[in-house]
Amino acid sequence: MTYYKIRGAQPLSGSIKVGGAKNTLPKNIVASLLTDEPCIISNVSNIGDVTVTLDMLSSIGTEVEWLDHSTMRISTPKVTSHIINSQFSGINRIPILMLGPLLHRFGMAEIPLLGGCKIGPRPINFHIDALKLLGAEVEIIDGKYRARASKLQGTTISLPFPSVGATETILLSASLAEGTTVIKNAAIEPEVIDLIAVLQKMGAIIDVDVDRTIIIDGVKRLRSFKHHALTDRIEVASWACAAIATHGDIVVENSDQLGMMAFLNIIRKIGGEYEVLENGIRFFSRGDCLNPIFLETDVHPGFMTDWQQPFVILMTQAQGLSVLHETVYEDRFGYINELRRMGAEIQVYQQCLGGKPCRFLHRNYPHSCVVKGQTALKGIEMTIPDLRAGFSYIIAALVASGESIIKGVYYIERGYDSIPEKARSLGAHIEVVEE
Ligand code: EPZ
Repeated sequence: MTYYKIRGAQPLSGSIKVGGAKNTLPKNIVASLLTDEPCIISNVSNIGDVTVTLDMLSSIGTEVEWLDHSTMRISTPKVTSHIINSQFSGINRIPILMLGPLLHRFGMAEIPLLGGCKIGPRPINFHIDALKLLGAEVEIIDGKYRARASKLQGTTISLPFPSVGATETILLSASLAEGTTVIKNAAIEPEVIDLIAVLQKMGAIIDVDVDRTIIIDGVKRLRSFKHHALTDRIEVASWACAAIATHGDIVVENSDQLGMMAFLNIIRKIGGEYEVLENGIRFFSRGDCLNPIFLETDVHPGFMTDWQQPFVILMTQAQGLSVLHETVYEDRFGYINELRRMGAEIQVYQQCLGGKPCRFLHRNYPHSCVVKGQTALKGIEMTIPDLRAGFSYIIAALVASGESIIKGVYYIERGYDSIPEKARSLGAHIEVVEE
């Protein structure tokens, strides 16, 4: 087993590069299934979710050739099977996105049960309902999803919640459907818009209209694309929190201000600082203490839910009481207990604290918290419960006095590229120990 050994209380400084995002690369890869022509994807990060997505596609006939360490040529001249087999069960959420492309290529599809971080029930009813509205038959048999359709037909789909994944399922399914599909209440995250850009390069006709409406005019054929994957704005935010929490000064190259506007405003409100540069964003601490803050996560363009965990570490270092209301996931504070063991003073509540009532009002979900700062954190042994919490543990360990042992680093390697090496290049004392 591998674990990280971190000695904290060391300001981070220097410059690192962040590559393509875990939440965009697998979608670019799945989009390549929509054509039998070779596609080029650059800025590919070396992360578990890319590897497993490529393995899934290779199991049904996809060929992958690496042109350099971060650029691949991927093509599926022929889909050799419509079945993503159960070896890929419970790993991540990507298989659901493959139903639409497989229906276009093969007329039927079978995928295993999905995985993904345990941060709520994570149903896929919006995806299944959308595929049925597009004309597919979808059933669940022995824990597998089976779909069939001779041809998908355009239709209007109203999402009960602006779901990123469901919007992506519809985009990947409707681009080659007959007729026009209208998505109402669609997700408009940068990663979704990036997928639209990839599909547009392939020949799709997709309009992002006002009030979260997306209109897809189905076309007969999609062709190859070349795409430079979107930078991981969640990783950028995590390094930003690490810089400010350790009173350091970090330049995160390839950061894109446009995808981080809400985050940058909150950094300034809590008393951190940043400077937008030509090649990235510099994050630094002005040295004085941080201000407590009220924060509510939301869908784009709000403060994204994946920024919540690293940000809570900053709240533990602010002087006073901060309040956080998580409105996207039901149960995304499972990581708090380990922080309490480090000395953090955090209380979780089932109420909608601070902002407007959300979907989880009176549903007994622990989705708000109050953080009392400034608390001194001390190093402990901890085990990562989910991907984004994993990086927040690393930040907490970098802030804490003494040594921390962080287990469950599989999660980190699933979603981030070379974190120990990047942290070390910024002056962190971090060792990767193989037990
Ligand atoms: C994507 O998950 C990301 N994952 C998540 O990142 C991210 O937090 C989330 O979007 C929101 O931005 C990937 O892109 C692989 P949703 P997704 O569908 O698509 C409910 C990370 O750590 N919902 O927008 O699964 C759902 O329960 C991960 O990288 C339904 O009820 O998120 C949740 O409450 C975490 N039925 C809300 O919508 C459905 O069919 C948002 O989910 C689908 C979703």
